[in-house]
Amino acid sequence: MQLERLLQKHGFGTRKACRALVRHERVAINGEICVNPFAEFPTDGLIFTVDGVDWPYCESATLMLNKPAGYECSRKPQHHLGVLELLPVPLLERGVQPIGRLDEDTTGLLLITDDGQLNHVLSSGKRKLPKVYLATTKHALDAAQIEQLLAGVLLNDEPEPIVAAGAEIVEPNLLRLTLTEGKYHQVKRMVAAVGNRVEALHREAVGSLVLPADLKPGEWRWLSAVDLENVVKTL
Ligand code: URA
Repeated sequence: MQLERLLQKHGFGTRKACRALVRHERVAINGEICVNPFAEFPTDGLIFTVDGVDWPYCESATLMLNKPAGYECSRKPQHHLGVLELLPVPLLERGVQPIGRLDEDTTGLLLITDDGQLNHVLSSGKRKLPKVYLATTKHALDAAQIEQLLAGVLLNDEPEPIVAAGAEIVEPNLLRLTLTEGKYHQVKRMVAAVGNRVEALHREAVGSLVLPADLKPGEWRWLSAVDLENVVKTL
């Protein structure tokens, strides 16, 4: 692919802006500065560098973020910073969006992509993608609450009881809850429906993809083919 087009595809601005980047010796290909914006490169396994930052060639951009508290997932955040502000500008220029949403005060694994079809498939409630949450509760959990969550609880505006795919007491005030829908405030509402209250909420996994222990709050990383497989195999 032509270098100028490659840079544009990866969110580095208009063709003219990308050409200028190259001509100003700010772009390297596989470690070597290239000043010809029209040079052609095979894209397989290509790593390009802009201002010293490495970028892998990606047909589409899909990544995971360890969402910190205090960020909104909505397209037009109103009361807090938007979660996309944690990402570098070229990714925003590619049009990445969160796959589903976490509340402003929820932390943990959030997937983000510019692949509209993937976003649609993974966020569709019909696909029943399991999401695993750790909820810190106000009151100590008991077996009756777990039984109710597994049997199904009735939530406002829902015609049928909503059943947890998994519920276990990790510590007296720590619940691991697996849900296959993505309803508004679902964990908080389900926990409230069994007479308890969520004080803190963290998502530890989506499908079989577990938030890596070394990915700090606010950090992101590309989703590898294995990571993506770990998500989609559970659909
Ligand atoms: N359920 C909630 O209540 N909040 C979230 O952020 C995610 C699931």
